[in-house]
Amino acid sequence: MVSQPVVEVLVTGGAGFIGSNFVLHALASHSNWHITTLDKLTYAGRLDNLRDITDNTRHTFVHGDVTDPTIVEPLVHRANIIVHFAAETHVDRSLRAAGDFITTDVYGSFVLLDAARQADQLHRFIQISTDEVYGSVESGSSVETDEIRPRNPYAASKAGADRLAYSYWATHEVPVVITRASNNYGPRQFPEKVIPLFVTNAIDHQFLPLYGDGLQIRDWLHVNDHCRAIDLLIERGKNGEVYNIGGANEVTNIELANRILTILDRPSSLIKQVSDRPGHDRRYSLDTTKLRSLGWQQEHQFSEGLRTTVEWYQNNDWWWRPIKENDPAYREYYEAQYGKSSE
Ligand code: NAD
Ligand code: TYD
Repeated sequence: MVSQPVVEVLVTGGAGFIGSNFVLHALASHSNWHITTLDKLTYAGRLDNLRDITDNTRHTFVHGDVTDPTIVEPLVHRANIIVHFAAETHVDRSLRAAGDFITTDVYGSFVLLDAARQADQLHRFIQISTDEVYGSVESGSSVETDEIRPRNPYAASKAGADRLAYSYWATHEVPVVITRASNNYGPRQFPEKVIPLFVTNAIDHQFLPLYGDGLQIRDWLHVNDHCRAIDLLIERGKNGEVYNIGGANEVTNIELANRILTILDRPSSLIKQVSDRPGHDRRYSLDTTKLRSLGWQQEHQFSEGLRTTVEWYQNNDWWWRPIKENDPAYREYYEAQYGKSSE
């Protein structure tokens, strides 16, 4: 039997939430891929997220920063495919201090893209952008050609990287495909983001801090459906194009909180309205016709996906309790953001 040539894949940010789900998904789906994960292991990156593949010879972990060309260049030069997830990702943190967002999300993307100019074997560079670049969507749904109007420092940093990636296709022919996904949910999401925060607080009978009136709308996409879409776009995306990836699950935050409480059999009195996020985007909504025309459709319905996600946090408190209970940086952030009274 003739063995297939090895495809070298570089995944940045692969120790984070979506990145780790993608690495596990990709190793299981492509027997001829060798994946190198490059990750700085910030507060959001955890080697525990990759512990199931510790002994997998088709995976190599490199601890490093995407802003460091001496680390990035050799990795990029041997890559056939790059999937660039690495970023500072939490809007609330970007409102407190935006510097790391500019450095990692914008400058880090530049370092990778610039290295990719000289990468002779590269045939795909997936720039992971976000639906937040469209800004708040009062009515209808965003299509890929809409003007981008980011409204918070995280979204603006991602928009900068999104357009920088496009410019490297338009001017240097780096084979860039840009994805704009909606809010992801699933296992191993850092417990500052709303679903794991609400679920783990509810497990422990603690308050769910709901910003403002709770009528803001997010479109929830299961992380596995997101990974399958990226896989499809590696194969079938067109260079220089943007693809929305959405879950068709638009839910208000208050409804989300109530659904979590119902699954966990907790009273709705646990919901505590707190000060709204400054500049809080009211709604995100994606038109996914373009992606669906390539043959993608989501497999996870929100009711089932949310229930299994809640079960994952119930069954894996070894993963989140040390973060929430023992990590001083998490405690410091939590108290600064919500005050001690939220507990
Ligand atoms: P995450 O915060 O869970 O993970 C980010 C990862 O990047 C971590 O492992 C972290 O250690 C790593 N990282 C940060 N700075 C780095 C640096 N300078 N060098 C190397 N590694 C670094 O984030 P996530 O939710 O998994 O998001 C992944 C990507 O998907 C991001 O680009 C984000 O903007 C995008 N995205 C996320 C969502 C969502 O709902 N979570 C939706 C759309 C797009
Ligand atoms: P988040 O998970 O931070 O994602 P994003 O801001 O990127 O959409 O928040 C999702 C929604 O939940 C958003 O509308 C803000 C809201 N939210 C709360 O109401 N309370 C919270 O404690 C957090 C973290 C978020």
